[in-house]
Amino acid sequence: MEPSTVPNPAIRSPHPSLQPSMQPTPIKSVLDDTALTNTTLTVAGWVRTFRNDRFIALNDGSTIRNLQCVIDQEQVDAAMRARFTTSAAVKCTGVIVESKGSGQRVEMQVIAVEVLGDSDAEKYPIQPKKHSLEFLRENAHLRFRTNTYSAVFRIRHQVSFGIHEYFDQQGYNYFHAPILTASDAEGAGEMFRVSVLDAKSPPLNDAGDVDFREDFFGRESRLTVSGQLQAELAALALGKVYTFGPTFRAENSNTARHLAEFWMIEPECAFMDLHGDMDLAEGLCKHLIARVLKNSMDDLQFLDARLKEEEATKPKEQRSEMGLIDRLKFVLDNPFERITYDDAINILLRSKPFQKGQFQFPVEWGIDLQSEHERYLVEKHFKKPVIVTGYPAKIKAFYMRTNAPGDFGYSDKGKTVAAMDVLFPGIGEIIGGSQREERLDVLEARMKDMNVPAEELWWYLDTRKFGTVPHAGFGLGLERFVLFVTGMGNIRDVIPFPRTPKSAEF
Ligand code: 4AD
Ligand code: MG
Repeated sequence: MEPSTVPNPAIRSPHPSLQPSMQPTPIKSVLDDTALTNTTLTVAGWVRTFRNDRFIALNDGSTIRNLQCVIDQEQVDAAMRARFTTSAAVKCTGVIVESKGSGQRVEMQVIAVEVLGDSDAEKYPIQPKKHSLEFLRENAHLRFRTNTYSAVFRIRHQVSFGIHEYFDQQGYNYFHAPILTASDAEGAGEMFRVSVLDAKSPPLNDAGDVDFREDFFGRESRLTVSGQLQAELAALALGKVYTFGPTFRAENSNTARHLAEFWMIEPECAFMDLHGDMDLAEGLCKHLIARVLKNSMDDLQFLDARLKEEEATKPKEQRSEMGLIDRLKFVLDNPFERITYDDAINILLRSKPFQKGQFQFPVEWGIDLQSEHERYLVEKHFKKPVIVTGYPAKIKAFYMRTNAPGDFGYSDKGKTVAAMDVLFPGIGEIIGGSQREERLDVLEARMKDMNVPAEELWWYLDTRKFGTVPHAGFGLGLERFVLFVTGMGNIRDVIPFPRTPKSAEF
């Protein structure tokens, strides 16, 4: 614990009443550090509630817990007390004493109090009561001040930091792939165009089409859907790299699991096969869960209780068997199930929902697994995370390695590739990855097959010409993972400012 009274010369507060020597002590420290009991210190935060004209529940974001600041009515006049409205910014100096009330170990006997920023109770949209998540989404600029969202975003930080920690420990280099690109890595064509051309009257070529030669980059360019292809170039020199950045997809899916802008982590490793790839992915998930269990227990307990309340409103058969924290511990303690696509299809064909015609989408060899199928495998059949390998080549990207007899995931039903998807309870696909096709001739044939323009990807193909080696990698969707660890149900609630079809407010 650093002494809170030592000024940090690097911190210059813009607010005149917060002098460097008066840096407030984080409320988390006040509540946790017994050495601070019976000392005088200053805290600053936002009022959650003001009770009995005496008790301010103050929250500064350092923890989900509030500090109870007890006001002496003789020292603080009624006009001042009227300003302790929800979300007013307040600075309190006082003595930390053992609390007489239940619910907290310590509280502050306030000696001096100052309102740094008033909050008009009539106009402030978020009252100290339970609001719907939809309502809070419309007030996304203020929702961080609620328990739910502050917990979610503290956990998002823990996950993000844990990602860097894990890869650093494993010898990976953090690699920054470009966001502006002229290539379509996934071949899905669902990309946002980036252009400086006049939208109303763009220059046209002889054929009457927009002439992108006159555009900023002299060619059609877009926001990236993946940093993988560039990460592969780096992995074939640095050995191990990972990207961690924003990713954009213009797919028109208005679901609880899709965003138009999301964050993806893409490790890429030379001399690694599909088994190593699965080990790396499982290791990452477990590292992150362990870190959140270690560092975010307060927030998890709050979210666990929140989830329980929400589950109680559902019909019995839809309720999950485990609470949030139990679920995290369970995933941490048990190996993920590793099956082939063939196995997955066979299990689905034998399943009750299939036999009873309850699946919305058909099941047969060759289909892309739908979320309902993924969730059946994970939630009903195996009851734990599942890694599926050996998907049909037809439904996967061009860069995945073609399986031969003997390869894990090879099938006699049709051509498969060394793909692997990690499926999680409540969500479905959380990670998609593969061993990459390192054989130039096989890769070129597959690109031709899938109409991927080889001329545009000459630089990618060069790696297969000069010192090609087996390598593998995957992409983890940050928000999908945060959904899992927070128990939230909608991806819009785990990214600060969600971008979805027809929505880019804030
Ligand atoms: O399976 P995807 O499309 O894989 C790739 O992009 C590969 N280039 C990854 C690689 O091998 N390096 O996406 C990877 C993950 C998905 O499993 C999912 O978690 C997340 O990214 N994801 C999305 N998350 C939120 N909104 C969307 N629209 C997403 N699309 C994919
Ligand atoms: Mg995928």
